[in-house]
Amino acid sequence: MQMQVFHLVVLVILAMSGFKVQGQGLKTGFYSSSCPKAEAIVKSTVEAHFNKDPTIAAGLLRLHFHDCFVQGCDGSVLIVGASAERNALPNLGVRGFEVIDDAKTQLEALCPGVVSCADILALAARDAVDLSDGPSWPVPTGRRDGRVSSSSEVSSFLPSPLESMAAQRQKFAVKGLDDHDLVTLVGAHTIGQTDCLFFKYRLYNFTTTGNPDPTINQAFLQQLQALCPKDGDGSKRVALDKDSQFKFDASFFKNVRNGNGVLESDQRLWGEAATRNIVENYAGNLKGLLGLRFDLEFAKAMIKMSSIEVKIGTQGEIRKTCPNFN
Ligand code: HEM
Repeated sequence: MQMQVFHLVVLVILAMSGFKVQGQGLKTGFYSSSCPKAEAIVKSTVEAHFNKDPTIAAGLLRLHFHDCFVQGCDGSVLIVGASAERNALPNLGVRGFEVIDDAKTQLEALCPGVVSCADILALAARDAVDLSDGPSWPVPTGRRDGRVSSSSEVSSFLPSPLESMAAQRQKFAVKGLDDHDLVTLVGAHTIGQTDCLFFKYRLYNFTTTGNPDPTINQAFLQQLQALCPKDGDGSKRVALDKDSQFKFDASFFKNVRNGNGVLESDQRLWGEAATRNIVENYAGNLKGLLGLRFDLEFAKAMIKMSSIEVKIGTQGEIRKTCPNFN
């Protein structure tokens, strides 16, 4: 109940602080006359899938991130095809496509050719966070769907967990996102899971030293080694936030502060002063009203990320089905 009040406050603050972002030609309530039930349909669809499988929330949030960083937020990640983004290595574990397809089918029945797949992704990510006890925010809409989806582009734009802080920063910077946005958005790892294979190298023979990554907290190292044995199954799933993988809160940052980050890229946020200060700020503010801070900043950063290189007006198209160009 207390959290619901906080999140209501987040919405009010966003609205009052001019965060009605009409940025990049998008505007909140874009479908209010052309398809008034659009947002409600996306929400009820996400909710129905979430009730069957709460892990889908993390999948949908990540899906939107992967869409936005390659060709902008234009649904290019949804296209099916041998050489489409979806088949690139960084996208192989990405989930939630069936939720988007489900919402699109209902929307096409109600208002054919009106609601873009790109907007469904942005709305579904917001609803997924909301359902995980995180903040909600007004999503500016009006994105059009892209006509290009190429697997060969994906690795140049999506960050890898093995990359240096400088490389991660660069990949966010080319999308107009700064250190503050980067740290805040990576806070999405407060929900969801990773395969052992993405971090197992940290546990046994890090940078060929024969030793584990020294930045991992000793007690946590033992837990991770038990979960991901040296010769064990690399596809075993492990929570990115050891304390509350289904709850969207600030405990991810406390983990990073305490050496309990699972991915190397997560732990690296503590490795240099600029990003450490931001982590520390969120980590220190776990309780009571102060906990509001991460919620508010995350909502703002999501609106920014959701506006990357969007197509509007007569650009692109409104797909009939999300996995296929018209
Ligand atoms: C430096 C930037 C980032 C890197 C290197 C990174 C890397 C990863 C990796 C390796 C996984 C595990 C994938 C798997 O095993 O299936 C993951 C999961 C996830 N990522 Fe990120 N990520 C980054 C930023 C973000 C951002 C900006 C968001 C969203 C705003 C995000 C949302 C998620 C979510 C929700 C999961 C859990 C997915 C699930 O449980 O299916 N990540 N990320």
